[in-house]
Amino acid sequence: MNIAVIGTGYVGLVQGVAFADVNHNVICVDKAEAKIKHLKDFCEGKRNDLPILEPDLPRLVKENYDKKRLVFSTDLKEAVRQSQIIFIAVGTPSNEDGSANLAYVQQVAKEIGAAMNYSSEEPVYKVIANKSTVPPGTYKIVHDIIAKETKNEFDIASNPEFLAEGRAVKDCLRPSRIVVGTANAKAASIMEELYAPFKDREVSIMFMSNIDAEMVKYASNTYLASQVALTNAMANLSRELGADWRKVLEGVKKDIRIGRFVYAGLGFGGSCFPKDVRELIHTMEQHRPGTKDLKYLKLVIEQNDAQKGIFIPRMEKYYNSLKGKKIAVWGTTFKPETDDVRESAGLHMIKELLLKGASVSAYDPSGSEQAIYILSLDEKLKPYLARLSFASDMYEGLKEAEGIVITVEWNDFRNPDFAQVKKLLKKPAIFDGKDILNPKQMEELGFDYFAVGRPDVLGHTKA
Ligand SMILES: NC(=O)c1ccc[n+]([C@@H]2O[C@H](COP(=O)([O-])OP(=O)(O)OC[C@H]3O[C@@H](n4cnc5c(N)ncnc54)[C@H](O)[C@@H]3O)[C@@H](O)[C@H]2O)c1
Repeated sequence: MNIAVIGTGYVGLVQGVAFADVNHNVICVDKAEAKIKHLKDFCEGKRNDLPILEPDLPRLVKENYDKKRLVFSTDLKEAVRQSQIIFIAVGTPSNEDGSANLAYVQQVAKEIGAAMNYSSEEPVYKVIANKSTVPPGTYKIVHDIIAKETKNEFDIASNPEFLAEGRAVKDCLRPSRIVVGTANAKAASIMEELYAPFKDREVSIMFMSNIDAEMVKYASNTYLASQVALTNAMANLSRELGADWRKVLEGVKKDIRIGRFVYAGLGFGGSCFPKDVRELIHTMEQHRPGTKDLKYLKLVIEQNDAQKGIFIPRMEKYYNSLKGKKIAVWGTTFKPETDDVRESAGLHMIKELLLKGASVSAYDPSGSEQAIYILSLDEKLKPYLARLSFASDMYEGLKEAEGIVITVEWNDFRNPDFAQVKKLLKKPAIFDGKDILNPKQMEELGFDYFAVGRPDVLGHTKA
């Protein structure tokens, strides 16, 4: 089938490649000319990297480009003309009030509608499939915008995306589920044909109404975000009680009704959970104002915001004051195996440390560039940015530092060369924001060790 994917970001690029990989012809479109040039240059061997970091993505992009099943373009009009299904995969960031900003989706809908007005011997009929995460009911808005632009026939399929960054290729090639919301049998059968190659991978395709499909995405992300908040609340209490949350979990996890988001940390970040829960709160405010349901959702965000700063008072107590101290921060991405730093615990930690008067030496295997860019946009931080530096390897920034904060579980951080770490640090202290190190080993090696859901270990102070 011929497909256009509008928006070539984390979702559009990976999903476009996955469709090409099962033998569909895919045109990936983006309005960002530099991004399309970057992708073309990569495919033609003029550069080695893609605009985003995702395991296995470079190989698949190259293979499908070489087989001429995948092309990149800025020409939305031509892509729409050539395609039976047009995916919308543009961003829906938060507005100030927490609602989803639909400006990009609306703009693309308008352009798609206008692009459908070409002359053809066959009647023009398209399925517009929406992969962007949009508030329930948005399908009507998209429908009306397109209908204003064209008299040609089309249907809207709401087809939310469930990939997780860092494992996006795997998730798209073997999706956990395929959700298609549409009121129209013809659109449903076209979407079924599109996804048919995935059926023999034991994936179920679920058909439902547009609004149900749009709601599936918010319900899924809010469940997961809520589980993270609950996990962290219990991990924080475990530490206060002298219990080790990792040990507690060994017992808790045996209950198969309990999910996978059970590891303690510095809160959820990324481009989805925070913004999607905020949007659901906004929708709840309109439809169920003043309810405990609304209060509950707000608490998920409040718990998470507090969790990102959970180490700060503990650090202030340990160091007496953070003013003038140099602290190394390992991790700026919101999870491992991605370069995405949006709303990450690492960025939050860097900001708080700078505002408290510390100087920060940060390191991340892939997120430094994006971190520098995002932090430099923050007006409040501008006077303090001279106290921030980025190291090019995980040990470089440790010299003269009085401690390390680990904010994300990159594999490199799980088992560093502790002898080198100890030699470089001015004070051997580690604040482990993902509870990934071994407290007993830390004590034996003479580190002061602080975790989220475990009692403190004073291997250095007590020695
Ligand atoms: N990132 C994830 O893990 C993930 C997972 C599931 C769903 N989603 C949802 O998918 C959507 C896209 O997310 P993303 O992370 O891929 O966003 P992104 O910011 O990485 O990519 C969006 C792309 O759309 C392009 N774009 C914007 N307006 C355009 C236009 N008028 N014409 C052509 N291109 C245009 C931008 O240039 C950008 O390259 C969001 O709604 C998000 O919530 C994201």
